[in-house]
Amino acid sequence: MDLGLHGKSVAVTGGGRGIGRATVLALAREGANVAYCSRSLEQLRLVEKEVTEEGGRCLPIQIDLAEAGAADDFIADTVDAFGALDVLVANHGFHQIKDFEELTDDDWYRTFEINFFSAMRVCRAAIPHMKAKRRGHIVVVSAGSIYKPSIGVDEHPHYTASKAAIANFAKFLSKRYGPDNIIVNSVLPGYGMSEERINIWADEARSRNQTPEEHFVELANDIGYLPALHRPGHADELARVITFLVSGANTYMSGVDVQIDGGGLDIG
Ligand SMILES: NC(=O)c1ccc[n+]([C@@H]2O[C@H](COP(=O)([O-])OP(=O)(O)OC[C@H]3O[C@@H](n4cnc5c(N)ncnc54)[C@H](OP(=O)(O)O)[C@@H]3O)[C@@H](O)[C@H]2O)c1
Repeated sequence: MDLGLHGKSVAVTGGGRGIGRATVLALAREGANVAYCSRSLEQLRLVEKEVTEEGGRCLPIQIDLAEAGAADDFIADTVDAFGALDVLVANHGFHQIKDFEELTDDDWYRTFEINFFSAMRVCRAAIPHMKAKRRGHIVVVSAGSIYKPSIGVDEHPHYTASKAAIANFAKFLSKRYGPDNIIVNSVLPGYGMSEERINIWADEARSRNQTPEEHFVELANDIGYLPALHRPGHADELARVITFLVSGANTYMSGVDVQIDGGGLDIG
């Protein structure tokens, strides 16, 4: 299938590692010109090396999206470099496990600042460029836990609330800008899709004489979010779905929370 991404101008937030890195690589492999950001220059450079070694074109931008004006600057730099903006993937995020009764106002503010406000700002900065061309695709990366907030084990109610807010905002954008031919969806990754976590679990499993799968199933059961596939997902599996959603092949799927969690949630 031709995804129609060749030569498109794409912006990915949080492209230095994890799901963002996998998305940058997947989009660059489709021939898109990909601007991406994070605070860590070292991680940006590693991704740049991977993209260029594969013959792709990318633009790493070191920026802290929590700072005033950063979202606007990121989009402006992308448009300056590539002449347009066809696709935005608002992927960056901040995750903190903390019991509800221990959470401070600062924890709540910081989480909403990064997961909601800066994601909202980057979408807001992208829209005029897409509206002018009457074409665009946006994906915001939310979380499956918005439908299943953890209670007791792995509590993070501020995280799930901020991710629910950004998914709701994506739905708003899909309705508001659908008449401008701008397609907006959110994706909901499931439990344990970060490489760091998967590596920690592999070590834990070894020390308990379990297979990584057995250990994962036990942990996922503890928080009541066991994927039907009985295994954690990989960033590449997320990136492939995101790539389809922002591609020219997706002309009629908009305003949807796309669950990518190996069948962990029962929401449909
Ligand atoms: N992994 C999972 O299991 C899972 C599950 C559900 C939802 N999600 C969501 O999926 C998204 C990606 O997850 P992930 O596991 O790949 O996350 P990750 O490994 O923590 O990567 C997050 C990326 O965002 C960047 N970032 C964070 N704060 C930033 C800021 N203020 N300004 C600019 N860049 C910033 C990070 O780079 P720097 O730190 O260098 O800035 C990094 O490149 C997140 O929104 C996350 O909440 C993940």
